[in-house]
Amino acid sequence: MSVAYFLLLSSLALTINTQAQDCSKPVGGDNMGLKGSDILLEMFPHGVRVSFACDTGYITKGGSSTITCTDGSWSRVNLKCEIKSCGNAGQVDNGYIDYPEGNDFGAKLVVTCNTGHRLVGRSPNIICGVDGWTGRLPECEVVTCSPLKRVVAGTFSPIQDSYDYQQVVEFSCEDDYTLNGSKSISCSEEGTFKPAPPTCVMVECKDPDIANAAWDGGSRPPHKHMATVTYKCVSGYTMKGERTQTCGIDSRWSPGLPTCELVECKDPDIANAAWDGGSRPPHRHMATVTYKCVSGHTMKGERTQTCGIDGQWSPGLPTCQLVECKDPDIANAAWDGGSRPPHRHMATVTYKCVSGHTMKGERTQTCGIDGQWSPGLPTCQLVQCKDPDIENAALDGGSLPPYNYMSMVTYECVSGYNMKGERTQTCGVDGQWSPGLPACEHNNGNLVKVLGIVFAVILIALVIVGLVIWRLRAFNKRRNADQSLLDYSSRRSYPDNAIPKDGEEVALS
Ligand SMILES: *[C@@H]1O[C@H](CO)[C@@H](O)[C@H](O)[C@H]1NC(C)=O
Repeated sequence: MSVAYFLLLSSLALTINTQAQDCSKPVGGDNMGLKGSDILLEMFPHGVRVSFACDTGYITKGGSSTITCTDGSWSRVNLKCEIKSCGNAGQVDNGYIDYPEGNDFGAKLVVTCNTGHRLVGRSPNIICGVDGWTGRLPECEVVTCSPLKRVVAGTFSPIQDSYDYQQVVEFSCEDDYTLNGSKSISCSEEGTFKPAPPTCVMVECKDPDIANAAWDGGSRPPHKHMATVTYKCVSGYTMKGERTQTCGIDSRWSPGLPTCELVECKDPDIANAAWDGGSRPPHRHMATVTYKCVSGHTMKGERTQTCGIDGQWSPGLPTCQLVECKDPDIANAAWDGGSRPPHRHMATVTYKCVSGHTMKGERTQTCGIDGQWSPGLPTCQLVQCKDPDIENAALDGGSLPPYNYMSMVTYECVSGYNMKGERTQTCGVDGQWSPGLPACEHNNGNLVKVLGIVFAVILIALVIVGLVIWRLRAFNKRRNADQSLLDYSSRRSYPDNAIPKDGEEVALS
């Protein structure tokens, strides 16, 4: 009971204390602030009333603007503030209004004039202020061009005090005068003529005076605007510049008079070459000069050159190139000593044929000044032996034709023939059969020989027998004669020993 009483007392005391509390500075809604001098205060006593007001550019949209401080706290702020709109700014004749930022407080509108019109007076920009659009809208006025000045030696039409937008004015010049600029101009939207008004000018180009040149066609003096004239240089001179010139509006020749310069060809500078007769510098038109290459080099191009009218050597300077023979590429051959690529002038190289091939040509070659091998690359040809042609013989085995190196054939004589030589032959590296083809001889050959010999022997024997018989007969005859002589002598009493014996010579006295 006593506790409840104490609590009641305590809360009562608290109530008495808060009744004395102030309010702190009140916070309003969006776009509003405290009105008047209240804005300077920080603390507000109990029971005080303050008012809010909308910010500049904002207007009140209902709700009470007043709040009250009660026991240290403010009543609710009911005021509503809304941004002010300036609305439509109206219309501009010959122009239009843009609202790029809208038309609320602070926004800026832009006035633009239609083509052929320009803004008069004020700025094209107007701002939406507290009291609506600030200031009057600018105006758009039609564009005009001021009158044109007189033209010396010319005229234009129409002649007016003022020209409308886009109005065209035409110009013309008196005889002998040329219009410098556009024939017709017009009044632009900026109030000026475009292009700029032309002038009338007297055009005359001086007769060209070009040293060492001659007139080659075209205009004769006086040279008026656009007249063209062509020049050429005299012999031995070359032209620098354009030969045909046009008389420009500025009374000058365009693109500019050429010059005629003495033709001179530069002294040739050919690497690895030497002067070999002809002109010495300076080389004029038609001068000729001859060059030769130094040893080991060969010339590409013409050795004799002529200085052309253009200051260039004709037909064009030659070059001297180091002689180089191509590395020989001989089928079925192998390098066998000498030079290795690159092969310079005088280099020698030797080749040999691979097995089974024979060389046709020289095995050692020399690189000539013309870059060719001398006396000319050899060839390696496959060794081939001719078909053996042996009479009265038949093949008895071995290789088939064609007969290359190392081919073997065996022959046999036909019946009744005997072989003389080797029956097996080998095709040699020289393309010949080795050891040499045999022959087949007839068996009767020997018989005939034997018979011949026998016949000869018989013949000789017969001759000898004949001779003996003949000799014996002669002897018998003489002995018979001697016998008769003896018979006669014995009658003349010859000694016995004086009578000659058989075969003994008797000296007859
Ligand atoms: C021609 O007109 C141009 C531009 O207006 C000017 O620069 C030039 O000097 C004029 N030429 C002559 C020959 O008057």
